[in-house]
Amino acid sequence: MRLRLVVPGYDDLRAGGGSGLALTEYRPAFEDILRSETLYAYAARQPEARQFSGRAPVYAVAIPGCGDVVIRHSMRGGLIGKTGSDLFLPPTRALREVVIPVLRTYPAVRIWHAGCSTGEEVYSAAILLREEGLYDRCQLYATDINEAVLRQARRGEVPLAAMRENTRNYIEAAGRQAFARWYSVRDDRAVLDPELRRNIVFAQHNLATDHSFNEFHLIVCRNVLIYFNRALQDRVHRLLYQSLIRFGFLGLGAKETIRFTPHEAHYQEMPERLYRKVA
Ligand SMILES: C[S@@+](CC[C@H](N)C(=O)[O-])C[C@H]1O[C@@H](n2cnc3c(N)ncnc32)[C@H](O)[C@@H]1O
Repeated sequence: MRLRLVVPGYDDLRAGGGSGLALTEYRPAFEDILRSETLYAYAARQPEARQFSGRAPVYAVAIPGCGDVVIRHSMRGGLIGKTGSDLFLPPTRALREVVIPVLRTYPAVRIWHAGCSTGEEVYSAAILLREEGLYDRCQLYATDINEAVLRQARRGEVPLAAMRENTRNYIEAAGRQAFARWYSVRDDRAVLDPELRRNIVFAQHNLATDHSFNEFHLIVCRNVLIYFNRALQDRVHRLLYQSLIRFGFLGLGAKETIRFTPHEAHYQEMPERLYRKVA
Protein backbone atom coordinates (compact mmCIF):
# COMPACT_ATOMS: atom_id res chain seq x y z
CA MET A 1 0.00 0.00 0.00
CA ARG A 2 1.26 3.46 -0.79
CA LEU A 3 0.93 5.88 2.05
CA ARG A 4 1.18 9.57 1.77
CA LEU A 5 1.35 11.71 4.81
CA VAL A 6 0.62 15.39 4.80
CA VAL A 7 0.99 16.93 8.18
CA PRO A 8 2.18 20.45 8.82
CA GLY A 9 5.54 20.18 10.48
CA TYR A 10 5.99 16.68 9.11
CA ASP A 11 6.70 17.79 5.58
CA ASP A 12 10.08 16.16 5.64
CA LEU A 13 8.37 12.83 6.17
CA ARG A 14 6.63 13.01 2.85
CA ALA A 15 7.29 10.00 0.68
CA GLY A 16 10.17 10.72 -1.64
CA GLY A 17 11.15 13.69 0.48
CA GLY A 18 14.58 14.51 1.79
CA SER A 19 14.47 12.14 4.75
CA GLY A 20 15.10 9.04 2.65
CA LEU A 21 12.44 7.33 4.68
CA ALA A 22 9.82 5.30 2.86
CA LEU A 23 6.55 6.03 4.48
CA THR A 24 5.42 2.53 3.78
CA GLU A 25 7.80 1.60 6.58
CA TYR A 26 5.66 3.34 9.07
CA ARG A 27 3.28 0.89 10.59
CA PRO A 28 0.14 2.83 10.24
CA ALA A 29 -0.86 4.61 13.13
CA PHE A 30 -2.84 4.61 10.08
CA GLU A 31 -3.74 0.93 10.55
CA ASP A 32 -6.15 1.94 13.24
CA ILE A 33 -7.67 4.67 11.23
CA LEU A 34 -7.81 2.52 8.19
CA ARG A 35 -9.99 0.10 10.07
CA SER A 36 -12.21 2.79 11.41
CA GLU A 37 -15.63 3.07 9.93
CA THR A 38 -15.52 6.81 10.15
CA LEU A 39 -12.61 6.83 7.80
CA TYR A 40 -14.27 4.60 5.30
CA ALA A 41 -17.40 6.71 5.45
CA TYR A 42 -15.25 9.78 4.97
CA ALA A 43 -13.28 8.17 2.20
CA ALA A 44 -16.42 7.17 0.43
CA ARG A 45 -17.69 10.70 0.52
CA GLN A 46 -14.49 12.40 -0.55
CA PRO A 47 -12.40 9.86 -2.40
CA GLU A 48 -10.06 12.31 -4.02
CA ALA A 49 -9.52 14.56 -1.04
CA ARG A 50 -5.80 15.11 -0.61
CA GLN A 51 -5.27 18.59 0.68
CA PHE A 52 -4.55 19.85 4.11
CA SER A 53 -7.42 22.08 5.08
CA GLY A 54 -8.02 24.25 8.08
CA ARG A 55 -5.56 24.67 10.90
CA ALA A 56 -5.63 21.22 12.44
CA PRO A 57 -2.97 18.76 11.36
CA VAL A 58 -4.25 16.47 8.68
CA TYR A 59 -3.13 13.12 7.40
CA ALA A 60 -3.63 12.12 3.79
CA VAL A 61 -3.62 8.41 3.23
CA ALA A 62 -3.89 6.55 -0.02
CA ILE A 63 -6.19 3.59 0.29
CA PRO A 64 -6.47 1.15 -2.57
CA GLY A 65 -9.77 1.64 -4.23
CA CYS A 66 -10.50 4.81 -2.32
CA GLY A 67 -7.83 7.17 -3.55
CA ASP A 68 -6.15 9.59 -1.19
CA VAL A 69 -8.21 10.55 1.78
CA VAL A 70 -7.58 13.26 4.28
CA ILE A 71 -8.02 12.64 7.93
CA ARG A 72 -8.18 15.50 10.28
CA HIS A 73 -6.45 14.68 13.48
CA SER A 74 -5.31 16.75 16.36
CA MET A 75 -1.58 16.62 17.06
CA ARG A 76 -2.36 16.49 20.75
CA GLY A 77 -4.22 13.35 21.50
CA GLY A 78 -3.02 10.39 19.59
CA LEU A 79 -1.48 8.68 16.64
CA ILE A 80 1.74 10.27 15.53
CA GLY A 81 0.16 13.34 16.82
CA LYS A 82 1.14 13.61 20.38
CA THR A 83 3.98 16.04 20.18
CA GLY A 84 3.75 16.00 23.93
CA SER A 85 3.51 19.09 25.98
CA ASP A 86 3.73 16.92 29.06
CA LEU A 87 6.80 16.97 31.21
CA PHE A 88 7.85 14.21 33.62
CA LEU A 89 6.05 11.33 31.96
CA PRO A 90 7.26 7.82 32.70
CA PRO A 91 9.98 6.68 32.98
CA THR A 92 10.90 9.85 34.91
CA ARG A 93 10.35 8.22 38.30
CA ALA A 94 12.33 5.12 37.34
CA LEU A 95 15.09 7.36 36.01
CA ARG A 96 15.32 9.03 39.39
CA GLU A 97 15.10 5.87 41.47
CA VAL A 98 16.88 3.29 39.32
CA VAL A 99 19.08 4.99 36.73
CA ILE A 100 20.47 8.04 38.54
CA PRO A 101 22.14 6.02 41.31
CA VAL A 102 24.00 4.08 38.60
CA LEU A 103 24.87 7.18 36.54
CA ARG A 104 26.37 8.63 39.67
CA THR A 105 29.11 6.04 39.48
CA TYR A 106 30.39 7.36 36.11
CA PRO A 107 32.62 10.45 35.87
CA ALA A 108 31.00 11.47 32.55
CA VAL A 109 27.60 10.48 31.27
CA ARG A 110 26.09 10.52 27.76
CA ILE A 111 22.33 10.47 27.29
CA TRP A 112 20.40 10.25 24.02
CA HIS A 113 16.74 11.18 23.60
CA ALA A 114 15.89 9.69 20.20
CA GLY A 115 12.69 11.03 18.63
CA CYS A 116 12.55 13.80 21.21
CA SER A 117 9.85 15.81 19.44
CA THR A 118 9.34 19.22 21.05
CA GLY A 119 11.72 18.42 23.88
CA GLU A 120 9.60 17.93 26.98
CA GLU A 121 11.26 14.62 27.60
CA VAL A 122 14.82 15.94 27.53
CA TYR A 123 13.98 19.02 29.62
CA SER A 124 12.40 16.70 32.21
CA ALA A 125 15.62 14.69 32.31
CA ALA A 126 17.66 17.88 32.60
CA ILE A 127 15.60 19.04 35.61
CA LEU A 128 16.03 15.64 37.20
CA LEU A 129 19.78 15.70 36.67
CA ARG A 130 20.05 19.23 38.03
CA GLU A 131 18.11 18.28 41.14
CA GLU A 132 20.29 15.23 41.65
CA GLY A 133 23.48 17.25 41.21
CA LEU A 134 24.54 15.25 38.14
CA TYR A 135 23.84 17.69 35.33
CA ASP A 136 27.33 19.07 35.00
CA ARG A 137 28.86 15.71 34.17
CA CYS A 138 26.15 14.84 31.63
CA GLN A 139 25.99 15.48 27.90
CA LEU A 140 22.49 15.12 26.50
CA TYR A 141 21.66 14.63 22.83
CA ALA A 142 18.09 15.24 21.72
CA THR A 143 17.39 14.16 18.16
CA ASP A 144 14.41 13.93 15.87
CA ILE A 145 13.84 13.49 12.16
CA ASN A 146 11.76 16.61 12.09
CA GLU A 147 13.59 19.95 12.09
CA ALA A 148 10.36 21.83 12.86
CA VAL A 149 9.85 20.11 16.22
CA LEU A 150 13.55 20.54 17.01
CA ARG A 151 13.25 24.29 16.47
CA GLN A 152 10.42 24.32 18.98
CA ALA A 153 12.42 22.13 21.37
CA ARG A 154 15.36 24.56 21.29
CA ARG A 155 13.03 27.35 22.41
CA GLY A 156 12.19 25.46 25.60
CA GLU A 157 8.68 26.76 25.97
CA VAL A 158 5.61 24.91 27.14
CA PRO A 159 1.99 26.11 26.98
CA LEU A 160 1.07 27.61 30.33
CA ALA A 161 -2.20 25.70 30.20
CA ALA A 162 -0.24 22.45 30.49
CA MET A 163 1.58 23.46 33.67
CA ARG A 164 -1.03 22.21 36.10
CA GLU A 165 -0.72 18.73 34.60
CA ASN A 166 3.06 19.09 34.44
CA THR A 167 3.21 20.03 38.11
CA ARG A 168 1.13 16.97 38.98
CA ASN A 169 3.49 14.80 36.91
CA TYR A 170 6.47 16.38 38.63
CA ILE A 171 5.12 15.53 42.07
CA GLU A 172 4.23 11.98 40.99
CA ALA A 173 7.75 11.55 39.65
CA ALA A 174 9.07 12.44 43.10
CA GLY A 175 10.01 16.04 42.30
CA ARG A 176 12.34 17.50 44.88
CA GLN A 177 11.68 21.24 44.79
CA ALA A 178 8.91 23.68 43.98
CA PHE A 179 8.46 23.01 40.27
CA ALA A 180 7.85 26.72 39.57
CA ARG A 181 11.58 27.23 40.22
CA TRP A 182 12.27 25.74 36.78
CA TYR A 183 10.33 28.16 34.61
CA SER A 184 9.21 31.72 34.23
CA VAL A 185 5.94 32.85 32.71
CA ARG A 186 5.77 34.85 29.50
CA ASP A 187 2.31 35.54 28.13
CA ASP A 188 0.61 32.17 27.70
CA ARG A 189 3.85 30.20 27.88
CA ALA A 190 6.09 28.74 30.52
CA VAL A 191 9.69 29.42 29.55
CA LEU A 192 11.97 26.74 30.93
CA ASP A 193 15.17 27.83 32.63
CA PRO A 194 17.68 28.35 29.75
CA GLU A 195 20.39 26.85 31.96
CA LEU A 196 18.68 23.50 31.41
CA ARG A 197 19.81 23.69 27.78
CA ARG A 198 23.48 24.22 28.53
CA ASN A 199 24.47 20.57 28.09
CA ILE A 200 21.84 19.60 25.52
CA VAL A 201 22.66 19.25 21.83
CA PHE A 202 19.57 19.27 19.59
CA ALA A 203 20.18 17.66 16.20
CA GLN A 204 18.40 16.08 13.31
CA HIS A 205 18.78 12.30 13.14
CA ASN A 206 16.76 9.73 11.25
CA LEU A 207 16.45 6.46 13.14
CA ALA A 208 15.46 4.68 9.96
CA THR A 209 18.52 5.55 7.93
CA ASP A 210 21.23 7.16 10.08
CA HIS A 211 23.91 5.46 12.12
CA SER A 212 24.79 5.73 15.74
CA PHE A 213 26.94 8.67 16.72
CA ASN A 214 28.22 7.68 20.15
CA GLU A 215 27.91 5.21 23.00
CA PHE A 216 25.41 6.14 25.66
CA HIS A 217 24.75 5.34 29.28
CA LEU A 218 21.05 6.01 28.79
CA ILE A 219 18.86 6.14 25.69
CA VAL A 220 15.23 7.18 25.84
CA CYS A 221 13.26 6.37 22.69
CA ARG A 222 9.69 6.80 23.72
CA ASN A 223 6.58 6.52 21.55
CA VAL A 224 8.55 6.35 18.34
CA LEU A 225 8.84 2.63 17.60
CA ILE A 226 5.10 2.07 17.75
CA TYR A 227 4.83 3.88 14.45
CA PHE A 228 7.29 1.59 12.67
CA ASN A 229 6.66 -1.77 11.06
CA ARG A 230 8.45 -4.86 12.33
CA ALA A 231 11.46 -4.65 10.05
CA LEU A 232 12.06 -1.02 10.91
CA GLN A 233 11.54 -1.67 14.61
CA ASP A 234 14.20 -4.37 14.46
CA ARG A 235 16.60 -2.04 12.67
CA VAL A 236 16.09 0.66 15.27
CA HIS A 237 16.42 -1.80 18.15
CA ARG A 238 19.74 -2.91 16.69
CA LEU A 239 20.86 0.70 16.46
CA LEU A 240 19.81 1.41 20.04
CA TYR A 241 21.43 -1.77 21.33
CA GLN A 242 24.70 -0.97 19.56
CA SER A 243 24.58 2.59 20.87
CA LEU A 244 24.32 1.58 24.53
CA ILE A 245 27.29 0.85 26.74
CA ARG A 246 27.20 -2.48 28.56
CA PHE A 247 24.84 -2.07 31.54
CA GLY A 248 23.38 1.04 29.92
CA PHE A 249 19.65 1.75 30.15
CA LEU A 250 16.98 1.98 27.47
CA GLY A 251 13.65 3.74 28.13
CA LEU A 252 10.65 3.01 25.89
CA GLY A 253 7.07 4.27 25.75
CA ALA A 254 4.19 2.78 27.73
CA LYS A 255 3.00 0.69 24.79
CA GLU A 256 6.43 -0.41 23.66
CA THR A 257 8.47 -3.40 24.71
CA ILE A 258 11.75 -5.09 24.04
CA ARG A 259 9.95 -8.44 24.09
CA PHE A 260 9.75 -10.34 20.82
CA THR A 261 12.60 -8.31 19.35
CA PRO A 262 15.96 -9.86 18.39
CA HIS A 263 17.49 -8.19 21.44
CA GLU A 264 15.04 -9.42 24.05
CA ALA A 265 17.63 -11.67 25.70
CA HIS A 266 20.13 -8.83 25.98
CA TYR A 267 18.12 -6.72 28.38
CA GLN A 268 16.85 -7.00 31.90
CA GLU A 269 13.38 -5.55 32.42
CA MET A 270 12.99 -2.79 34.99
CA PRO A 271 10.04 -0.62 36.06
CA GLU A 272 8.27 1.85 33.74
CA ARG A 273 9.37 0.27 30.44
CA LEU A 274 12.98 0.70 31.32
CA TYR A 275 15.47 -1.97 30.22
CA ARG A 276 19.07 -2.56 31.20
CA LYS A 277 21.53 -3.95 28.70
CA VAL A 278 23.11 -6.95 30.36
CA ALA A 279 24.67 -8.82 27.47
C1 LIG B 1 4.90 10.64 19.28
S1 LIG B 1 6.36 11.59 19.12
C2 LIG B 1 7.17 11.09 20.62
C3 LIG B 1 7.91 12.22 21.24
C4 LIG B 1 8.55 11.94 22.58
N1 LIG B 1 9.55 10.90 22.49
C5 LIG B 1 7.50 11.60 23.60
O1 LIG B 1 7.36 10.46 24.02
O2 LIG B 1 6.79 12.53 24.02
C6 LIG B 1 7.25 10.71 17.87
C7 LIG B 1 8.45 11.47 17.38
O3 LIG B 1 9.22 10.60 16.60
C8 LIG B 1 9.77 11.35 15.54
N2 LIG B 1 10.14 10.43 14.47
C9 LIG B 1 9.33 9.77 13.60
N3 LIG B 1 10.06 9.05 12.75
C10 LIG B 1 11.36 9.23 13.10
C11 LIG B 1 12.60 8.74 12.58
N4 LIG B 1 12.62 7.91 11.55
N5 LIG B 1 13.75 9.14 13.17
C12 LIG B 1 13.73 9.99 14.22
N6 LIG B 1 12.60 10.48 14.74
C13 LIG B 1 11.43 10.11 14.19
C14 LIG B 1 8.65 12.27 15.14
O4 LIG B 1 9.14 13.38 14.41
C15 LIG B 1 8.08 12.65 16.50
O5 LIG B 1 8.68 13.82 16.99
